[in-house]
Amino acid sequence: MRAAIFVEPNGPMSVEDVTPTDPGPRDVVVRITASGVCHSDLHVISGALPMPPPAILGHEGAGIVEAVGAEVKGLAVGDRVIGSFIPACGVCWHCLRDESHLCDNTYTVMGSPRAVRADGTPLMTMTGLGTFAEYMTCDEMSLVKIETDVPDAQLALVGCGVTTGVGAALNTAKVQPGDTVAVIGCGGVGQSVIQGARIAGASVIIAVDPVALKREAALGLGATHAVDPGEGDPVEQVKALTGGRGVDYAFEVIGLPATVAQAFDMARSGGAAVAVGVSHFTESITVPSFPLVLSEKRLLGCVYGSAQVRRDFPRLVGFVENGRLDLANMITRTLPLDDINEAFRAMTAGEVVRSVIV
Ligand code: APR
Ligand code: ZN
Ligand code: ZN
Repeated sequence: MRAAIFVEPNGPMSVEDVTPTDPGPRDVVVRITASGVCHSDLHVISGALPMPPPAILGHEGAGIVEAVGAEVKGLAVGDRVIGSFIPACGVCWHCLRDESHLCDNTYTVMGSPRAVRADGTPLMTMTGLGTFAEYMTCDEMSLVKIETDVPDAQLALVGCGVTTGVGAALNTAKVQPGDTVAVIGCGGVGQSVIQGARIAGASVIIAVDPVALKREAALGLGATHAVDPGEGDPVEQVKALTGGRGVDYAFEVIGLPATVAQAFDMARSGGAAVAVGVSHFTESITVPSFPLVLSEKRLLGCVYGSAQVRRDFPRLVGFVENGRLDLANMITRTLPLDDINEAFRAMTAGEVVRSVIV
């Protein structure tokens, strides 16, 4: 099969013919129908997320089950599935508390090579998935069955950015009707936070991004205001739009300590900053102590939108089906696997909300 291989830090990916390893009894072989290109893939290439090459990247994908191992219970050949980039066992302490994003057994199924290069080198896969390929072999824990007519490219986005962003608003922050929200960074994940805040009934949704295309997309997807941080301190601009008070929830959706600090400053007294973006693994985030204590501001971490994937994937697909969640307008372009490096260039250049490999 063809797959895009991360071969060297900061270098281009190499699209090659590789040989899948034999599936085990708990494994499922999936034919990938669409795979979104997320900034976390770029974080692996840049070294912000530690993962040694060579590896098959891609963690935001959908597909059709091609084969199942003898011990696979919940999936059958022909099922439509979305990959969960945090494999969830369903029975551990966290999974039983609707916290499958913190599953105790996630890492037990991420450590196996899933293909071999022509020279015999084994290939690991990103988060146990590896969706930048024609097929992927993964544990049943990594897949959620979906019955829907939503197109493949849109379904793929549910695998990471949409669940992370909408979940950040609905699950992590629990935005309420009438709340005020700011979103710093309006890529695929940030636009999903904006849509989650709209679905929750937020009254003010302020999109903060230096790129005009992102601000325009945000206004089309539910933002009520757009702020260009190049036109003055974004904290002051957001405060000016909220009567000087700041917002109930400020989401950081880039992964930079400086913008997490901005989110904290944008939150009102008693409000919260929500750190959604993944920073370089060596970074620390600093917030001022007086507002933390005396103004009771909160700083919330958020992984995978605090999602229980087997509950939330179908719920999000339902929002798409009934028109409340617009994924069609988050997809700026679709490309073949051979153009994977072009997709990363376009992301870095700020030319797309999301590219999807089909
Ligand atoms: N202020 C506001 N927005 C900014 C700034 C800034 N200082 N710097 C960059 N941005 C914007 C970019 O213009 C872009 O629109 O942040 C956005 C980031 O979007 P993408 O690169 O598309 O990233 P995305 O896939 O949405 O992921 C965002 O979430 O899941 C994590 O690892 C992921 O850390 C990454 C973050
Ligand atoms: Zn992602
Ligand atoms: Zn679990």
